Formats: sequence, C-alpha cells, structure tokens
Amino acid sequence: MKDIKEYKTHTQQGILLNANEMSDNLSSSILKEIQEKIVNLDFNRYPDNDCIRLREAYSALLNVQIENVLAGNGSDQILGLLIGYFLKKGKTLLTLDPDFSMYDYYCGTYDANLLKYPTRDDGSFDVENFIRYAIDNKVDMILFSNPNNPTGFLLTNEEIKVLLKQLNTIPVVIDEAYAEFAKESATELIDQFDNLYITRTLSKAYALAGARVGFLVSNEKNIKQIHKANVPYVLNCVSQMIAMITLKHVEEFRNRIESIKKKRDELIHSNYKSIHIYDSQANFVKVKCKDLKKMYAYFDKNNVIVRKYEGKDYFRLTIGNDQEYKLIKNIFDQYEKEV
Ligand SMILES: Cc1ncc(COP(=O)(O)O)c(C=O)c1O
Repeated sequence: MKDIKEYKTHTQQGILLNANEMSDNLSSSILKEIQEKIVNLDFNRYPDNDCIRLREAYSALLNVQIENVLAGNGSDQILGLLIGYFLKKGKTLLTLDPDFSMYDYYCGTYDANLLKYPTRDDGSFDVENFIRYAIDNKVDMILFSNPNNPTGFLLTNEEIKVLLKQLNTIPVVIDEAYAEFAKESATELIDQFDNLYITRTLSKAYALAGARVGFLVSNEKNIKQIHKANVPYVLNCVSQMIAMITLKHVEEFRNRIESIKKKRDELIHSNYKSIHIYDSQANFVKVKCKDLKKMYAYFDKNNVIVRKYEGKDYFRLTIGNDQEYKLIKNIFDQYEKEV
C-alpha cells in the first residue's frame, strides 16, 4: 500500500485568522437569493457537466473567453488534476520554498518528485537563477502560488513572461488563489504563452470556501485537453448556483477587497519595533517577532487562531473584518509595550 502523507486541515474554532478565508459570510441579500433558488433546483438530475453559465459569468469577470475557463471543485481539485495530468512516478515538480503545502500532498499521491527552490525571507527570488535551476534539474512541471502563500510576495508579469519564454517546453502553473488582492494577474498572458496555466478560486475574495468552486484559466487548446481528464460532474448543482448568484454581486466584493487591502497596507506600514510585518499582495501577512511564545500567549488569551509553522520563526495572519483587525492591533500594541 502507498504511504500517503495525510493533509492536515485547519482548526475551525475561535477567531479564525489561519486559513485566509473571508471573515464575514455572504450578505443577507445574496443568502436570500440562494434560498429562493435552491427550492427550484432539479436535485434528481445531474448537474451541467460543462458548467456553462458559471464559466460564462467567471470568464466575463476576468475578461477572457468562456473557452479559456474550466470549473472545478475548488482550486485544490484543479491543482491535483494538473499534477496528475503532467506528472507520474519519476517525474519532477518544481515549486518554491515556502509555498502552499497542498502541492507536497498531491505530488505524494502521484509518486512524483518535488523540488523546492528556496526564496528569500520576504518570498522574493532571482528569476534567472530559478530558470537555470529548473533547466539543470530537468523538471517536468512548475507550480507556485502568486501572490505567494505564506509570504504575500508577488512576482510581476514582466518576470513571469521571462520565465514562460525561457521555459517554453515546461507547463508553468501559477496558483492565483489571492490574485484579487494583488496589483496584477497573469490571466492577461494566456493567449501569448502555450505553457501557462492559472488556477483561481472563489474561496478567498468571494467568501465561498465552503462551496468549493475553483477555476483553471488557460488557452482554449489547453482547457480542452485538461477538461477531458477532469472528473465528470465535478461541480454539484448547489455550488454552481451559489457561485453564479455570488458572481452577480461582484461590486459588493470589490468593496470588501478594498477594505482588506487598506487594513493590510496600514498594518504593513505600522511602526512596530519588535514586530516585523512583511509586505504582502494577498489577504494575509507574514509576521516575525522576537518572542513568538509571548505573542502566541496573547493570541490564545484572545481566542485568536493564526497559521503557525513547525520549526519556523514566523506566523501567517489573515486580514479579517474591522473588529478582528482592531483586536489584532490591540494585541500587537500590547506585545510591543511589554517586550
Ligand atoms: C495558495 C493556495 N492555493 C489554493 C488554495 C486552495 O483553495 P481552494 O479553496 O480553491 O481549494 C489555497 C487555500 O488556502 C491556497 O492558499
């Protein structure tokens, strides 16, 4: 039997600033629309296998064609699909260190090798060196999150173009789970580079982590190929309906996204002497401080859950709603005073 490392899911009790979800649920008007629609669903019928209306709505939002978009059960499922499609035993995936832990998990399930290219403390890295490393190690696929989880670092489209051009025989998957919080996205490059695959999700900026809706964005030929390898009826009728209703209200989410970015930037620019908050283009920040134990004790006392990393001297903190943000500021102020 294969020895697969179990994926540890997140704690779900307390003030949850550990999984980069949206802190507030869908608005009551969206919930009401969902409630009204749900009674008219044909539960006895299989859902639309091609997710046509959902892909129409999402492609319009991204300003791409419907043929450029594939829907899946969260971006996790699409990442697994891509790893399974491009890799098998003996093949190698190149990612960054640190990056999203799910890549390790999927590589394990397909018996593929995983190489991690170390990044600097702030998540940045030298693209030319990265390219050389990929070529020297004859990797079969590249996958990294951009903005990076957990640093929040964003590789620019100019740098991504260099990477795509020089590694044009290798599929490059960019995981844009947090793109809505960033200055730019690589989706505008899909028709220029055949080796570009982008995953997106409604779990973060659109408050739908529970509905499990994700997308693959690429050129039409790639989407056609990957679609053939996808599980039939991958997205159930309830999730398709919820996602379509949510996407009718993007304006509401634009305001939420702007509010999160404002709080994030304010936190990054706060002048703590004993807490280092890294620059970020996502809805979370990487934080380092002198006395992690003391900081964690404050979090425990206030029932705040953050993402900790075994053996590392930093944690990752989701930018939550206004109330949660105030609480974090109070904790940081108190820590600063006492350390
Ligand atoms: C970088 C990154 N990619 C993908 C995901 C998974 O998102 P989804 O809910 O769409 O599966 C996450 C979730 O935390 C993430 O951090």
